[in-house]
Amino acid sequence: MSNIIQRPRRLRYHSGLRDMLTEVRLNISDLIYPVFIKEGISQKKEIDSMPGVFQYSIDEVVKEVKEAWDLGIKAVILFGIPKHKDERASGAYDQNGIVQLATRKIKEACPKILIITDVCLCEYMSHGHCGLISENGEIENDSSLEILANTALSHVQAGADMVAPSDMMDGRVLAIRTILDQNNFQHIPIMSYAVKYASSFYGPFRDAAESAPSFGDRKSYQMGFTSEKEAIREAMLDEEEGADFIMVKPAMAYLDIIRVLKDTTNLPLVAYQVSGEYSMLMAAHQKGFLSLEDILLESLVGMKRAGAQLIITYFAKQIAGFLET
Ligand code: PBG
Repeated sequence: MSNIIQRPRRLRYHSGLRDMLTEVRLNISDLIYPVFIKEGISQKKEIDSMPGVFQYSIDEVVKEVKEAWDLGIKAVILFGIPKHKDERASGAYDQNGIVQLATRKIKEACPKILIITDVCLCEYMSHGHCGLISENGEIENDSSLEILANTALSHVQAGADMVAPSDMMDGRVLAIRTILDQNNFQHIPIMSYAVKYASSFYGPFRDAAESAPSFGDRKSYQMGFTSEKEAIREAMLDEEEGADFIMVKPAMAYLDIIRVLKDTTNLPLVAYQVSGEYSMLMAAHQKGFLSLEDILLESLVGMKRAGAQLIITYFAKQIAGFLET
C-alpha cells in the first residue's frame, strides 16, 4: 500500500468526467475561413504548395462561401489577386476591384456571413511590397496610409463587415478608423494584424496571393521573430489607435506571444494559422504520417488555451466537418 493521497488520475478515470472537465473547447464559431479570389479566371485553380486550397473566380467563391456557411462557419476573410498590378496599387481601392466585386456578390448570395477583408497593398503592387516605394527604394510609411485607408473604405462601401489591415505600416489603424468614421462607418470594427512577424511560414501564401516582393524582404515593416516586448508595444499602439481585435501571426511558433497579450490587452485576440502551417500539416497528412483530425484539434485547442478567441485557418471547412460529427 502506498500513501499517495493526491491522485490526478482519479479525474481521468471516467470518460464522462474527462469530458465534463474539458477546460478549453473548440467551436465552429471560433473559425474564420480565408479565401483567395483571382480576377480574370473562370475556373478555380489549386495552389501547388497548399493542396486543397484554391484561387477562386468570383462565381466560384460565392459557392465556396455558401458551402462554408452551410457547415456552420460564421466568417470569411477575403484576399484579392488583381489582373493588373502597378506602383500605386490602384486595384486595391478600385470600386470595381476584385475584392469589392466579390464582397458585393457574397453579400447578395450569403447575407448573414461576416465578411472580413484583408487590407494590404502587396497583391496590387508591381513590386509586391505592402507600401509605396520611395525613389531610394525605401518602403514609405506615411504616404502609404492614405492608400490603405482608401482601400479599407472601398471594401466597407462594397459591404465588408470588418476590415483587417495586414500591411504593418505605423499609424494605419488610426488612418483607417478616421476615414471610416468620417464616412459614417463608426460601427465597422477593425481587426488589426497588430503583431505580424516577418515569417518564412508565409511562403505558400505568396504563391496563393501572387504577392512575393520582387526585391528585398519585409523586415523593415514586419517584426523580427526574436521580439516579445515589441509585440506588446505594437498591440498597445493599435489598441490606442482604435483597433477592435488584435491578431498574432503566425500562430504555432508564437503561442507565448498570444499568452503574453492575453494578460496585456482586453481586446479579443485572433491567431492566424498561416499558409506554411497549413502546408506542413497537410503534407504530413498526405504522407500518412499523422492523423489530420487529431493534430488539428490539438493545435487549435493549443491556440485557444494560449488565449486566442478566434482562429483564422485554411482548414476551417475540414474542422467544421470534424466538429459536427
Ligand atoms: C499580406 C498578407 C500576408 C499574409 C496575410 N496577409 C503575406 C505577407 O505578409 O507576405 C500571410 C498569410 C499566410 O501565410 O497564410 N501582407
